[in-house]
Amino acid sequence: MPAIQDIFQTCTQIKFNKATLEHIYQEVTGICTKEVVKQKDIREIEPMMFDQEIKLYDITFNYPEREEKVLEKVSLTIRKNQRIGIVGATGAGKTTLVDILLGLFIPGQGQITVDGVPIEAENVRSWQRIIGYVPQQIYLSDDTIIGNIAFGIPENQIDMEKIKKAATIARLDDFIERLPEKYHTVVGERGVKLSGGQMQRVGIARAVYHDPQVLILDEATSALDNITEQEFMEALEAAAEVKTLIIIAHRINTVRNCDIIIMLENGRVQEQGNYDMLMQCSEKFRTMATAGEKEQHQ
Ligand SMILES: Nc1ncnc2c1ncn2[C@@H]1O[C@H](COP(=O)(O)OP(=O)(O)O)[C@@H](O)[C@H]1O
Ligand SMILES: [Mg+2]
Repeated sequence: MPAIQDIFQTCTQIKFNKATLEHIYQEVTGICTKEVVKQKDIREIEPMMFDQEIKLYDITFNYPEREEKVLEKVSLTIRKNQRIGIVGATGAGKTTLVDILLGLFIPGQGQITVDGVPIEAENVRSWQRIIGYVPQQIYLSDDTIIGNIAFGIPENQIDMEKIKKAATIARLDDFIERLPEKYHTVVGERGVKLSGGQMQRVGIARAVYHDPQVLILDEATSALDNITEQEFMEALEAAAEVKTLIIIAHRINTVRNCDIIIMLENGRVQEQGNYDMLMQCSEKFRTMATAGEKEQHQ
């Protein structure tokens, strides 16, 4: 089962990331089949207008062939420039919620709207155009650092300044400087072996390269130590391009500064509020926060 989920996640990632997608991997009960679909380059698609809020209404979802609901009546509002944290145990439905938010899965019930406009098949690519997404597991191609950050962009259209800026925000620049061929070093399967944290930082750089208006991080800093995580958050803030942030985490500390923290449990929103409020009012939140602190001190 975990292996199938890995393939599945890689598929969604390829689907989302590859700008000039010629090969789309479709998931059929978790197994990929290759299908050649000529699609318009996402960069040619008009970005969606987003000035006010993203709204999720009563999102209910179950995977095909599985009756149990992975998400049930999830509703939330994300205002422009807000930082939203989503926490919850493994299996709570966080990644599924992200996939729905990205328009990769269509919920059985419920709707997503952006400034009141429902996200549907016709406008989903315009919506994706303004999102940067860092998945839980980063897929690296057998390519250079440059090719991996500017994933899917034709070589003659890669902007080196933007690569360097993205690498700086992702706190990857020092590491790259130490590589034998710097930005031209081949990473991925047959190149330099990267640690989990380094891979995550390539994933972050890949997402911020496009200056997305909305950035979704799905446990994207889980392999980073607290200091690097903090540095990255500060660099992201200083860069100021990304204004709306959706941070999925299992460490409460990661989402501590978010305007709203949502606690997901068995596919339902259990609690919603800022850190101080939840620390005061929610026993479950306090337990999770305290458990996280203990983990850090071990
Ligand atoms: N591709 C899939 N097919 C079937 N079930 C899945 C799939 N992906 C996730 N699930 C199930 O959905 C539930 C929520 O998973 P997920 O959204 O990955 O949670 P989280 O990200 O919070 O750990 C889990 O019970 C998981 O086993
Ligand atoms: Mg997950």
